[in-house]
Parts: sequence; structure tokens; C-alpha cells
Amino acid sequence: MLFDTHAHYDDEKFEYDRFQVMENLPENGIAYAVNIGTNLESSKLSVEYAEKFDHIYATVGFHPEFADKLDLDALRELAKHKKVVAIGEIGLDYYWEDNPAKEIQIDAFKKQMDLAKELDLPVSIHNRDATGDITSVLLEKDHNKVIIHCCSVSLETAKIFVKKGYYISFAGPVSFKNAGKLKEVAAFVPDDLLLIETDAPYLTPHPFRGQRNDSTKVLYTAQALAEIRGVSLEEIEKITFENAKRIYNI
Ligand code: NI
Repeated sequence: MLFDTHAHYDDEKFEYDRFQVMENLPENGIAYAVNIGTNLESSKLSVEYAEKFDHIYATVGFHPEFADKLDLDALRELAKHKKVVAIGEIGLDYYWEDNPAKEIQIDAFKKQMDLAKELDLPVSIHNRDATGDITSVLLEKDHNKVIIHCCSVSLETAKIFVKKGYYISFAGPVSFKNAGKLKEVAAFVPDDLLLIETDAPYLTPHPFRGQRNDSTKVLYTAQALAEIRGVSLEEIEKITFENAKRIYNI
């Protein structure tokens, strides 16, 4: 059985069939999936899905895109729900020009790191073109429960993260033919820190690139990792499943 540590079923791409897709996951080999909050509305929906399905868990948080909307009190209340397993996704995104200013993003990120520490919950980290600042905030806050979502960092940075005991989660891109550098990182991460995710409906793995992603396709990311690491698919399934349960405390 597989564990998809990061999906977005509140996305509009699931407008017509999200409940059907979620409901069918266990019979399609997915034991658990975590729906990830990106703002207040999506965090509420994540909790709602987690209440509806035993095999769905939730995170709550403000993605850097929504850093200027941060409502810490509402987040703290939502985070107390028993099926909320992390604060996220939070972090920094310097790629999109119309995202909130860096200072606003960093401030929201730090406040949510503090909340996660206060509640003893892991954080799910979003990083796009912001590795330097992400690393500084993580080292400054020194939280011991960190998931690097959709890892895209260099081997050098991955070594820093692994040394700190951060979990490293791989999504579809690790299965792409041109993923040379990322494959080096995927080969390097120790067994006990390795996670898999879809980021559905985005980042669909090879050979379905271009189609809508969903949790069942995490299998192809697991397969890619098995090839890269020279172990069986069963071994990747087993270690990523155990790791996900450990970090999310399920
Ligand atoms: Ni995501």
C-alpha cells in the first residue's frame, strides 16, 4: 500500500469528481493521502475531507502565495483538529512576480513555523527559487519535524537538510528523463527520511505527464525511486509508508 503525503483535492481540477476520486483510493492501492491547505478556505476544506474519509488526513496553512492573508488565530483553531497532521504548505515562492513581497512571505513563514513548534506538528515546506532564505529560516527556527515538499534542491542543500533530519519528499519530476541532478539527490536521501507524494493535480509523473495527477499515480514516483536507488518497488513502498506514518504521527 502507498501513502501520498501531499495532494490538493480542493483544486478546481477536481471540481466534478473529487469525492469519487478520494473514495476510490484504498481500492486502488492508496492507503492514505494528505490533503494540503494553502489558505484559510483550502485548510477548512482539507479538514472537511479528512472528516469525511478515514484514509484522508489534513494539513492547514498559508502557502506563500497567500502570505498576505495569514490568519494565525483561525489556523491555530483548525490545527487542533485530531486529523490535522501538519502545518503546511508554508514557505517561500520567489518565482511568481505577483506573489506577496519577500518580507511578507518571510514573516508569514516564520509565524507559521512558530505555530507548528507550539503545537508540536510537522511543517510541509514549499520552496520555489528561495532555497537560501528557506534554509536560513529553517535553521533559525530549528524545528525537528520538517518535510521538504516536492524536493528540488541541489545535493549540497539536501546534505544540510538530511543532517538536520528533515524528511525529503519526491513528486513526479523525479521520474522525468531530464531529472539528472534530482536523481542524484533521490539516490542520496537515507531510507528513514524518504517520502513520496503527487502534489495532485500537478506534477504528474512519467508516463502520464500532461494529464491530471491523482494519488494513485504516486506509484510511478515510487517506481522511479526504486530504479534510481537500485531496490525493489516493495522496498520503496514499505519505507515511504512507514516514514509517512512516523512523521505525520498516524
Ligand atoms: Ni502542493
